Amino acid sequence: MFAPVPYARYSFPDNLIGETNLQEELSVDAPNMAAFQPVVLDAADAGSAYALYSLVDRLTPYGFLARRKLADFEGAFADPDSLVAVGVRKEGRLIAYSICRRAMRPPYPGNLFLSRIDPAITPLYVGIGTVVLPDFQGHLLMAQMLGLRRRLLFERRVHHVAGLVAIDNVLSIGNLLRAGAALLGFHEDETAMNYIAYGGDMLSRLDRKSISIAVPVGDRKQQARLFDNGHIAFSLRPGKMKQRDMLFLPLIP
Ligand SMILES: CC(C)(COP(=O)(O)OP(=O)(O)OC[C@H]1O[C@@H](n2cnc3c(N)ncnc32)[C@H](O)[C@@H]1OP(=O)(O)O)[C@@H](O)C(=O)NCCC(=O)NCCS
Repeated sequence: MFAPVPYARYSFPDNLIGETNLQEELSVDAPNMAAFQPVVLDAADAGSAYALYSLVDRLTPYGFLARRKLADFEGAFADPDSLVAVGVRKEGRLIAYSICRRAMRPPYPGNLFLSRIDPAITPLYVGIGTVVLPDFQGHLLMAQMLGLRRRLLFERRVHHVAGLVAIDNVLSIGNLLRAGAALLGFHEDETAMNYIAYGGDMLSRLDRKSISIAVPVGDRKQQARLFDNGHIAFSLRPGKMKQRDMLFLPLIP
């Protein structure tokens, strides 16, 4: 058992190995968090996860969430060995989830960084979605769920997670970077231009001794140049949403 570190960085340190008590690890001091119950989801939750998705999707800018059907959730939950699904309940009601599943093929072909992993051999999980019901946003529930997800993945010896985040979704980008993930490049899907986010062992290749390069969040041309030049984005400087700088570092070749 290890001490509660609710918002530990996403680095899969060795000391995460061991027996876990999820409830205890996710406990937080703030009184307003007391009613939020972190949970691991299973097949019985597919319907309520989809209902939550549908509700949040209607209230969220187009492109922030990928298109999903009930069958997508049911299909994912039908294979629990390839799925890590966590959520938060309040008074029994599911108010947030974060789900990822094992990829069997390279999810974003063409991305050089990820091309080092063959998902058929090395487990690579990809995000299916993370949502928090608007009434309960602003309580760091995404950060909590990413922490729980990371621990469950670590217990499965999964050391690589990737996913997409829409380029305008600064709140979600901030959450991912704070959780220790990095942005690797761009990827367009059916609804939006996205960043590819990655968390896991390969971030040990980040050259943390180099001086970081700051680029405004909106300067996609400069970001694309840096991605093409072997850099990845690892942090957002604090500041107002759209005026923040994204910090890049090179990768050790
Ligand atoms: C994105 C979403 C899941 C985040 O929900 P949330 O958990 O309520 O997010 P919060 O508002 O509590 O967190 C936001 C702030 O906490 C910060 N934060 C995250 N981890 C933190 C930590 N460990 N310590 C301190 N602050 C932290 C975030 O960086 C952000 O700060 P900022 O405003 O300075 O950027 C939610 O807005 C949502 O459901 N949006 C619609 C669907 C969506 O876009 N999903 C993401 C798809 S990739």
